[in-house]
Amino acid sequence: MQILQISDLHLRGDGRLSFRKVDTPACLRVMADYLHALSPSPDAVVITGDLADSGDERAYHILYEALSDLPAPIYAVPGNHDRRDRMRAILRGWVPEESPVPPRVCHCVDMGEVRLVLLDTMEPGSHSGHCPESMARWLDTCLQEDAGRPALVFMHHPPFLTGMGVMDEPFEGAEPLREALARAPLARLCCGHMHRPIFTLWGDRPALTSPSVSMQIDLDLRPEGGDAFRMETPGYLLHHWDGARLNTHVCQIPAAADFSGPHPFADSVNPLED
Ligand SMILES: [Fe+2]
Ligand SMILES: [Fe+2]
Repeated sequence: MQILQISDLHLRGDGRLSFRKVDTPACLRVMADYLHALSPSPDAVVITGDLADSGDERAYHILYEALSDLPAPIYAVPGNHDRRDRMRAILRGWVPEESPVPPRVCHCVDMGEVRLVLLDTMEPGSHSGHCPESMARWLDTCLQEDAGRPALVFMHHPPFLTGMGVMDEPFEGAEPLREALARAPLARLCCGHMHRPIFTLWGDRPALTSPSVSMQIDLDLRPEGGDAFRMETPGYLLHHWDGARLNTHVCQIPAAADFSGPHPFADSVNPLED
């Protein structure tokens, strides 16, 4: 069972460069060609947020067009740059029509022996992560339904500190989330938002973040760091369940990376919904 996680496309559909530097439709084309050629194909693709750069509906149409014919189901949750109303309207089949925790985009899907639980930590107008108690309770129910089953819990914002300067922001509602994970010994927390692969323990659970398929945050561990990016090689995570062990592989997408940077994050928008 192979679950492929991509994150932080920051796709624009208006012909402009993301953060005045990155041709994200070009990044998408490289990634889409690569995913279509993968053999074997993954059993599912999970996108952990920041699909669009500023919630632009054209970006979601471009993304849907590029990936919807992959021979695997796709599941997506929003990041702080997304609009969940537009994701619901355009990304048909990628987000559930009805959420167990409205208005948040939450899914619980079984892929063979592995349970996928997707949480929506986006709060319109906010850059940081939010987990209302109702979503933590729903997660707990999902995980306790079959506590002997390995579970991958996906969401955009990591609730743990990473040392990456200004990207380390308070996460609202972390404690009930931590408690739900503490009761699920086979759960692994898989996030986006940091645009770098990071591995840690949160509570006693393995927790990690995915690289971006567009731009990587410059690794600057000073308090003022985390606010710029480099054009490093794009990447993704492959979670592989072999029937006894869940391994997470950090993978690269062959692309003409020039490692330029650090480029400041400018023109960053966290969209509000209508
Ligand atoms: Fe992002
Ligand atoms: Fe983000």
